[in-house]
Amino acid sequence: MSAHRKDDHVRLAHSQHTAAGEGRDAGPPRRPSQFDEVRFVHHALAGTDREKVSLETGFAGMRWRRPLYINAMTGGSPRTGEINRDLAIAAHETGLPIATGSMSPYLKDPSTAPTFTPVRRENPGGFVLANINTDATPDQACRAVELLEADALQIHLNTVQETVMPEGDRSFGHWAGAIEKIVAAVGVPVIVKEVGFGLSGRTVRELASLGVHAADVAGSGGTDFARIENGRRDRPDYAYLEGWGLSTPAALLDARDAGLPLLASGGIRDPLDVARSLALGARAAGASGPFLTTLLDGGVEALVEQITTWLDHLAALMTLLGAHSPGELADCDVQLTGELRAFCLDRGLA
Ligand code: FNR
Repeated sequence: MSAHRKDDHVRLAHSQHTAAGEGRDAGPPRRPSQFDEVRFVHHALAGTDREKVSLETGFAGMRWRRPLYINAMTGGSPRTGEINRDLAIAAHETGLPIATGSMSPYLKDPSTAPTFTPVRRENPGGFVLANINTDATPDQACRAVELLEADALQIHLNTVQETVMPEGDRSFGHWAGAIEKIVAAVGVPVIVKEVGFGLSGRTVRELASLGVHAADVAGSGGTDFARIENGRRDRPDYAYLEGWGLSTPAALLDARDAGLPLLASGGIRDPLDVARSLALGARAAGASGPFLTTLLDGGVEALVEQITTWLDHLAALMTLLGAHSPGELADCDVQLTGELRAFCLDRGLA
């Protein structure tokens, strides 16, 4: 049942990112996004020299060679084990940190371990994040980290997804307490993330009080798990929840002063969205659906090429913007427009 669910997620996410008839002859469509409402103010003399630009980033005691990562997706079935293997090969070849999908299947059935372990086996020395939900006990959280020799642990929050899932949880009140216990038990930094509906400033402040080390806002605008779970129902009863949540730029702005280092994911389309995320204060940006789509359509080689291009273009954008490090992008002038600007005014954000 669970393995079948993981295969469904891959299939439905892939179809979301390759919807036919959306404008281009080849490759996934470049959808409109609230990221388009974040504009760099162009300063024609701001540029620096490419060799002075470093992509290295850091937060919560961690150093990442790249400010870009392959975010949590999968594991638990034979097919998703192959996907984890291929994602890990791409991570290894490009130096990107990589997260596995939720390790609940492994915690329920240890025989699924080989569908997760390629993330470490194919990527020795790389930065690996294990991923669990709030149902995991502190002991299970430690087992997930141990299996992958993970450098950090992600805990995902997914109330909207659970609500739309026919077999989903309906009890969320214990989640904060569960997070606090897991943070106290594991010996690695803990990053709490959404799955595409965004973390608000209020949520991130609460996470900070629980001892969490960083927050991945994982906002809306990319893979939509309400749509995926509706696609798995006989009747799409919760169609009105599609599009729910804070967009990634809105979440970054809302949580900017909430007391935790932020990561940006959800709807990152290209290197410019990575640069925009870093300009809004994120320490790194992650993608799931777009990388999965490239892998399924073109194989590992295509994914390595895409990531290499993104890193190259990100360095080029930093060069023209005069940012010597990802952190310096936060000093660039940006202009907010449209609904994003209205959101900031409404929320009293500077
Ligand atoms: C996900 N995502 C996810 N997140 C998580 O924390 N645990 C998980 O097991 C999964 N599973 C999963 C499967 C598939 C097929 C996809 C595409 C995504 C959510 C993911 O990490 C991310 O937060 C969202 O997909 C938004 O990012 P993108 O896809 O818009 O880049």
